[in-house]
Amino acid sequence: MANAGILGMGSYIPENVVTNFDLEKKMDTSDEWIRTRTGIEERRFAPEHIKTSDMSYLAAKQALENADIKPEQIDLIIVATVTPDRPFPAVAAVIQERLGAKNAAAMDVSAACTGFMYGIITGKQFIQTNDYKYVLVVGAEKLSERMNWEDRNSAVLFGDGAGAAVLGPVSNDRGILAFDLGADGAGSEHITQEGQHLTMNGREVFKFAVRQMGESALKVIHKAGLTKEDVDYLVPHQANIRIMESSRQRLELPEEKMAKTVHKYGNTSAASIPMTLVEELDNGKIKDGDIVVLVGFGAGLTWGSVAIRW
Ligand code: ACO
Repeated sequence: MANAGILGMGSYIPENVVTNFDLEKKMDTSDEWIRTRTGIEERRFAPEHIKTSDMSYLAAKQALENADIKPEQIDLIIVATVTPDRPFPAVAAVIQERLGAKNAAAMDVSAACTGFMYGIITGKQFIQTNDYKYVLVVGAEKLSERMNWEDRNSAVLFGDGAGAAVLGPVSNDRGILAFDLGADGAGSEHITQEGQHLTMNGREVFKFAVRQMGESALKVIHKAGLTKEDVDYLVPHQANIRIMESSRQRLELPEEKMAKTVHKYGNTSAASIPMTLVEELDNGKIKDGDIVVLVGFGAGLTWGSVAIRW
């Protein structure tokens, strides 16, 4: 039985930077409040004509190039998003055609900020059973379209972007070693879309995230037969620096072993973990053979962690 690993990645980061000072002009908030409560300094908003499918396509194209895999070799495309261009068809089907991935099945998954984790774990199952060889997983969001500019609690937190990974077979000691996925629908009203807008009970989501991120990360380390000391790098969902810090402290990791892009991109939901992974690979923070723990949480409420030997 083959194990599944990430063979190559790509991302799309919109050019348009929106700083906290820009938001000060739009609503009753301040750079100081946003920075101290969340760690966010700026975020990117995609222009109106760029949709989630466009961002997904660009990130996916780069991931295929980096993995050196042709579009026709892809067996399945999974796009994790809560901001599809339209409720249907799936974004995955739209990019299947654009990429020329004519042999791929295509579907979207909806697990909010945990979507990329649900996506890679779903992809891994097909590879491990030898039913499929290559699975493309994309996390992409255009949250700027869902913001309620009357609600300063949530509107300052989110940004747009996309990240993608090509999964394929690797040797048994590499790739995804263990995972932990979960949901607690009792918290489904804490973060949701009402009409066109996102609404959120920030304090409840915060409490859930602090508890669940640490627990899930520890669980996945133990499931992989590892200890905290084995972890080389932690890539948490980039929602809020205080939540990220709490998971780092649960793992007793030094600051330099935790990935951080929240200050530049805000919370990009399903795109946050793959976008961050691309940056940390590019700047050499994640190296071949490293034990990397990914941990996410999101609406649902949902959570997910993965331990990978890179
Ligand atoms: N600017 C200025 N003041 C603000 C702002 C703002 N943007 N937003 C809220 N405030 C005010 C509040 O009105 C409140 O004032 P009050 O006490 O007079 O009522 C005060 O600041 C403090 O508010 P708190 O809610 O106590 O602030 P807290 O420290 O809890 O931080 C935050 C709020 C940042 C939203 C935090 O709760 C959080 O990060 N929660 C998690 C949110 C999250 O991660 N969501 C994403 C989920 S993932 C997904 O699936 C999309």
